[in-house]
Amino acid sequence: MNKVKKALIPAAGLGTRFLPATKTIPKEMLPVVDQPILLYVVEEAVRAGVEDIILIAGRGKHAIEDFFDRSYEVEDQLLKAGREDLLSRIQKIRDMVNIISVRQKEALGLGHAVFCGQPIIGKENFAVLLGDEIMHSEPGEPTVTEQLSKIFIETGVSTVAVMEVAAEDVEKYGVISAEKTPEGYFRVRDVVEKPTPDTAPSRLALPGRYIFTHHIFDYLQNAKPGKNNEIQLTDSMRGLAQNQGLVATLFQAKRFDAGDKLGYLIANIELALMRQDLGPQLRQYLRGLIDDLS
Ligand code: G1P
Repeated sequence: MNKVKKALIPAAGLGTRFLPATKTIPKEMLPVVDQPILLYVVEEAVRAGVEDIILIAGRGKHAIEDFFDRSYEVEDQLLKAGREDLLSRIQKIRDMVNIISVRQKEALGLGHAVFCGQPIIGKENFAVLLGDEIMHSEPGEPTVTEQLSKIFIETGVSTVAVMEVAAEDVEKYGVISAEKTPEGYFRVRDVVEKPTPDTAPSRLALPGRYIFTHHIFDYLQNAKPGKNNEIQLTDSMRGLAQNQGLVATLFQAKRFDAGDKLGYLIANIELALMRQDLGPQLRQYLRGLIDDLS
C-alpha cells in the first residue's frame, strides 16, 4: 500500500453548540490560542504526507478557502512592518497544502459528507479527519494520521483510530466490536453508532481519524439513514469490516474535543500552556486563580 496523499475533512456542520459565534463563521475556524482549529487538523494531515485536502464545507466555506489562500494585503503589511516572523508563518500556511473544497448542499450526516468527496478521490486511498478534533503530538512524535498510515501500509486494509472511553460515554461515539491481533491492533468485526452503555459491544470508541480504501464509497453510495435519521459513516464501515477488512489501533496523542464548549476551553488552556510565549504567564495566572478559589 502506498502513502496516503489525500485527506478529507468534513466541516459542514451548523456549529449550533457555538452560536452565536458560529452564525457567520464555521466552527472549524474558531481560534484555539491563535490559530483556527482547522489548522491544527490540517497540520496533522500534512505531517503524515498529505498533499491535497478535500474540504467538505457548508456555509462559511469562503472563510476557510481564504484562510489557505494568499492574502496580498496582510502579507504586504507584515513585510512593511518588518514582521518577518508572522509573515513566514502566514506564507507557510498558504503553501502547506492544496485545498479542494466541495460544498455539501444538505447536512444529511457524516457518511453523506464523506461521499461528497468521491468525485475527487475516485479510486485513491484517503484519510478522514474530523474538523473539530485536535490531536496534539509532540514535534518529532508521529501524528495520529501517521500512526494510522503506518498500519495501513503494513496491512493494506482500512485503518481507524480508537480510544477507550468510560461506559457512560459510549453513547457519544461510534463503537467497535473487535478482537486483538498478535501485532497489537484490532481486527474490527462490527461498528455501532452511539450505542447505549448496555448494548455497546466494547468501550473502544472512534475519535474521528480514519484511513479508507475507495471501497468505502461502494457502501456509502447505497447507504440509508441510520441512527438519528442521518447517513452514518459507521454503517458503511460495517461493510468494510465484514468484506474488505478494517483494523483499529489505540492512538498515542493528546486529544481535544474542540467541538464541545468545555473541550474547546480546555484545548485553549492546555495548548497555551505548551507554548513558550504564553505558558509561563498563564501557569502563574492559573496558580493564582486556584489559590483564590480554594
Ligand atoms: C461522529 C461519528 C462518530 C464518531 C464521532 C467522533 O459523531 O458519527 O462515529 O465517534 O463523530 O467525534 P458526531 O460527534 O458528529 O455526532
